[in-house]
Amino acid sequence: MLASELKKLYLKFFKERGHAIIPSASLLPEHDPTVLFISAGMHPLVPYLLGQPHPMGNRLADCQKCLRTTDIEEVGDATHLTFLEMLGNWSLNDYWKKEAIEWSYEFLTSKKWLGFDPEKLSVTVFAGDEDAPRDDEAAKIWKSLGIPEERIYYLPKEENWWGPAGTTGPCGPCTEMFIRIDELPLCGPECRPGCNCGAWFEIWNDVFMYYNKTAEGSYEQLEHRNIDTGMGLERTAAMLQGKKTVYEIELFRPLMEKIRELSGKNEVTEEEDKLERIIADHVRSAIMIMADDARIAPSNLEHGYIVRRLLRKAIHIGDKLGIGSGFMLQLAEIVIDMHKDAYEEVKRNRDFILENLELEEAKFRKTLGKALRKFDRILQEAGTVTGKDAFLLFTSFGLPLEMTRDLAEEKRIEINMEEFTEEFERHREISRTATEWKFSGGLADHSEEITMLHTATHLLQEALRRVLGEKVSQSGSNITKERLRFDFTFDRKLTPEEVKEVEDLVNGVIGRNLEVTQEFMSLDDALASGALAFFKETYGDEVSVYYVGDFSKEICGGPHVQRSGLLGRFRIAKQKKIGAGIIRIRAVLE
Ligand code: ALA
Repeated sequence: MLASELKKLYLKFFKERGHAIIPSASLLPEHDPTVLFISAGMHPLVPYLLGQPHPMGNRLADCQKCLRTTDIEEVGDATHLTFLEMLGNWSLNDYWKKEAIEWSYEFLTSKKWLGFDPEKLSVTVFAGDEDAPRDDEAAKIWKSLGIPEERIYYLPKEENWWGPAGTTGPCGPCTEMFIRIDELPLCGPECRPGCNCGAWFEIWNDVFMYYNKTAEGSYEQLEHRNIDTGMGLERTAAMLQGKKTVYEIELFRPLMEKIRELSGKNEVTEEEDKLERIIADHVRSAIMIMADDARIAPSNLEHGYIVRRLLRKAIHIGDKLGIGSGFMLQLAEIVIDMHKDAYEEVKRNRDFILENLELEEAKFRKTLGKALRKFDRILQEAGTVTGKDAFLLFTSFGLPLEMTRDLAEEKRIEINMEEFTEEFERHREISRTATEWKFSGGLADHSEEITMLHTATHLLQEALRRVLGEKVSQSGSNITKERLRFDFTFDRKLTPEEVKEVEDLVNGVIGRNLEVTQEFMSLDDALASGALAFFKETYGDEVSVYYVGDFSKEICGGPHVQRSGLLGRFRIAKQKKIGAGIIRIRAVLE
C-alpha cells in the first residue's frame, strides 16, 4: 500500500466515525514563540486541547506536516526523519480510551483496513508513578481485544507519557503500538518495544491527554479530556510495504536511487548507506520548509538557519560520497514532484526553492574549503577545537556549528559546549535556534503576554489599513512575550505622522475597552462580510472570526483577551523594509 493510499484510508476510517477532516497547518507555528516548527499533529491544535471550541467540532482527523529537529542525530537509522507526515485523530472532550484504542486496533488489524497480523502487534501502557496511576484501564481494553498480557509492556514516564514538550501544558499517559520485525532477533533479554535495535517498529501512539503540567512541576487533572493520536505516515507505510526502513518506501526510493546513481557506486558500506539516507532526509526537509513559506531562504537566523544547516550537511556528505556539485537541484526535482499533489505550496514555490538551493550551494562552496582547512589548522596548532573556535568557524567561514561538532566527533574531540553557548549568547538569534535543536518541542505559549499581543496584532492590522489604505495586508506575524512582529505589504516605511496616527487609533480602541467576541460562520460568509483573512490554517467551510467591538474583524483561531482595555498602551518600537513591498513593524504593549 502506497503512503498516499494509507493517508486516504486513515482519513476515510475516521470520517466514517464522525471526524471532520482538517487540512495540515503550516510547518511554522503562527503564535508560538517557543519553537520554530510544528513537531506533532497536536501542536497547531493546542488552543482547542485547552478548551476553546473548534469550528469543525470535537472529533478531528488530519495529516499534519511535522519537522522534528530533535531527531536529527537519529536520522539515517530505520525510522527517524526530520520532516515527516503524521496522521492523527482527536477527541476534544468527546470519546475516550475505549473508542480510541478499539478504533486503533480495528484500523490496524481489520482486513477491511490495514490488515496487520494481530499476533505481530505489541503495545505499551503507562506503568504509573507518583504523579499518575498505572494505566490499567488501557491495558484492560487491549486485553479485551485479544492482546495477551505478555505483549503488553508497562513502561515509565520517559517512554509512555506524552507532553508537555515544553515546560508546562496539556499532557498525559499514552499507549504505543509496535509491530515486531520477525527476521530481526531481539538484541538481548531486556529488548522490548521502544528498544532502538530495529526489532520493533513503532507505528501509532494514542495519548490520553487529561493532565496539565504546572509551572511548579506538578500534574493536575484537566476537566477537559482529550485524545491525541499520532501515526507516522512513512513508518506505517514501510511496515505495510514489508520494508525494514522508511527509506525504502515510494516517497524515498526514487530519491535514494538517484543519490546512488550520482555517487556512481554499485555497492555501499553500511556507513555509506546511512550517509545516503541523511542526504535524502535533509534535502527533503529543507525543501519542505522552504515550500511552506517562501520567505524562508537559508540564512543564519531561526528557520533559515535550520534550512542552511540541513543543506550544508547534505552538501558536505555528498562530497564525502564523491557525488560532486549541483546534485541538490536534481534531488529537488524528485522531492517537488513527489509532494506537489499533496501540498500545493510545493508547486507554487518551486522556483524559489530551486533558486535558493543553487545559491546556497554556491555560497557554501566558496567558504567550505577554507573552513575545513581552518578547522584542521586549529586542531593542529591547539590540539583541540574550542567553543570559541566553533563560533568563529560559523560566523567567518559559514560552517554550521553542528557540522563543526560532527567534524570534531570524527576526530574524537569534544567541543566545550559551555563556551560554545557563551558565544551563542552574544548572538541571541542563533542561540535561540541552536537551543531549539537540542530541546525542541514545546507547546504553544498561551501566556497572558502572548494573548494580549495577539489581540494587539489584530488592532494594528486594522489601524494600518485605515491609515495607509486597503493595500495593506498581512504577510507574516510572529509574537514573543516581549513584542509583536508584523509584516505587511506596503511599498515604503511609514512617516512619523503615520506611525503616530496608527498608534493613536490602536490606543483609542484600547481606551474604548471594546468587547472581543468570537463567532463561527462559513468561510464564504466571513469573506463576504469583509473579515480579514490570513490563514495558513483553513477549517474547511467553517471558520472562526474574532471581532474587537466594531473596529476589527478577522478570521483567526485565537486565543484573544476578552476586552481591548486589558492591553495597556500600544507603541510601535521599530519599522523596517524587509523586501520588495514588505514592511516589518515591531510593537510593544507598555
Ligand atoms: N502527540 C503524540 C505523538 O506525536 C500523538 O506521538
